[in-house]
Amino acid sequence: MDFGGIKIESPLFLAPIAGYTDSPFRRVARAHGAGLVVTELVSAVGLVRRGKKTLELLRFDDSERPLGIQLFGNDPAVMGDAAASAGRYGPEFIDINLGCPARKVCNTGSGAALLRTPELVYAIVRSVRAGTSLPVTAKIRLGWDSGSMNYAETVAAVREGGASAIFVHGRTREQKYGGMADWNAIAEINAMAGIPVAGNGDIRSFGEAHARMKESGCAAVMIGRGALGNPWIFSGKEPSIGEIISQISGHCELMEQFYGSYGVVLMRKHLTAYIHGMKNASHVRSRLVHAVSRSEVMSVLAELHE
Ligand SMILES: Cc1cc2nc3c(=O)[nH]c(=O)nc-3n(C[C@H](O)[C@H](O)[C@H](O)COP(=O)(O)O)c2cc1C
Repeated sequence: MDFGGIKIESPLFLAPIAGYTDSPFRRVARAHGAGLVVTELVSAVGLVRRGKKTLELLRFDDSERPLGIQLFGNDPAVMGDAAASAGRYGPEFIDINLGCPARKVCNTGSGAALLRTPELVYAIVRSVRAGTSLPVTAKIRLGWDSGSMNYAETVAAVREGGASAIFVHGRTREQKYGGMADWNAIAEINAMAGIPVAGNGDIRSFGEAHARMKESGCAAVMIGRGALGNPWIFSGKEPSIGEIISQISGHCELMEQFYGSYGVVLMRKHLTAYIHGMKNASHVRSRLVHAVSRSEVMSVLAELHE
């Protein structure tokens, strides 16, 4: 999939997962072949006010490229200013969040709440386009709820506003992460969008990623939860226990470099994802999530070899 003149080597993209797809994990995903990565959602208001926590989210390494910075907000002017600021960090593109179902985001009229007002979606995309010379994308859901599946209007607003590509999570806001993504609707969107579409939702393996692309006609797919603890999903490789352990070690090292000693604590949720489904996992899990240093993590993991 090509858009905005960005060089993209694989049609399997990493979907943003707040709290997980930070700079270290994005590097891991790219090293395993993810075609592009996107930051977790960044508040446009926070960015314009130069909030410390917001600016932290914008840190990335060159090895993550191609990278998009994802913005959320509800005010076209603020979104345009935020896009201008985000652009100065040097990403390949700016993505607009039109899908976050969280109450604290939707209550401010941002994220998935915008799906209810396509004219505001149009105004936001236009303003973001005006604020930056970078390509602009939008990540949408199918609609607010089953009674308002207005994706045709949302897609038209995004395209007419000047976006270069669309990422579609095949659920409504009402579904949050429950039920199954509707890949028929994703195929329909791909057929009518007029700009490149990457489908997203429930992909759990490399084979499934390619099957979804074929069935839906999408030139690319985005993978979120299926990549946690399994960055091999991007290459289709079956890792040995030794490779999993060495991947964990490398990831832990990146976490320490990025966050300091607290990185090991932040690594815990990844550790449980990496060992999920391993046959000796239950023996080591509790000690693993209490480990306070990388060497402790590694010595616990050594038992998995036994
Ligand atoms: C904990 C969590 C956090 C998420 N954070 C974001 C986010 O910051 N921005 C976004 O566009 N989507 C976010 N998503 C949605 C994912 O990008 C993706 O659309 C969704 O999980 C479906 O894809 P999957 O089944 O491959 O995970 C999040 C999902 C989860 C479960």
